[in-house]
Amino acid sequence: MIDTAKQAELLERAVEARDRSYSPYSHYAVGAALLTKDGRIYQGCNIENASYTPTICAERTAFFKAVFDGVREFEAIAIIGSGDSPAFPCGVCRQVMAEFCEPSFCIITANRDRSEVVVSPLSDMLPHSFGPRDLL
Ligand code: THU
Repeated sequence: MIDTAKQAELLERAVEARDRSYSPYSHYAVGAALLTKDGRIYQGCNIENASYTPTICAERTAFFKAVFDGVREFEAIAIIGSGDSPAFPCGVCRQVMAEFCEPSFCIITANRDRSEVVVSPLSDMLPHSFGPRDLL
């Protein structure tokens, strides 16, 4: 797990990212800040579409930006939604995390005003996951 100062920094960067959200259909803006093992931070927001299905979550935007840049080792992600309770990652995003992250990968989720923060390892969010090792 990462220290509280780093958690606060990541949440601040997730708030910044949430301001970039394109969510005219759900009006539920989400921001994410992904910390790489070498200390870089990739931000992401949700980007919706009139056809709904192409919508991408904030978490996957952050992951795919990082992977495109050649980064594949991650430490933590902070996710902030627009609701009263913390924005836990959806199942698809958890599966993407399982592709690139160890079970100890730290997931920090917060509600709109950061009054509620929940910190959990990926292994709690997606136990018994199917992953790249299963295809070896
Ligand atoms: N959303 C995220 O960005 N991350 C999540 O983990 C859950 C859902 C987005 C997708 C959609 O744009 C909006 O929130 C409502 O589902």
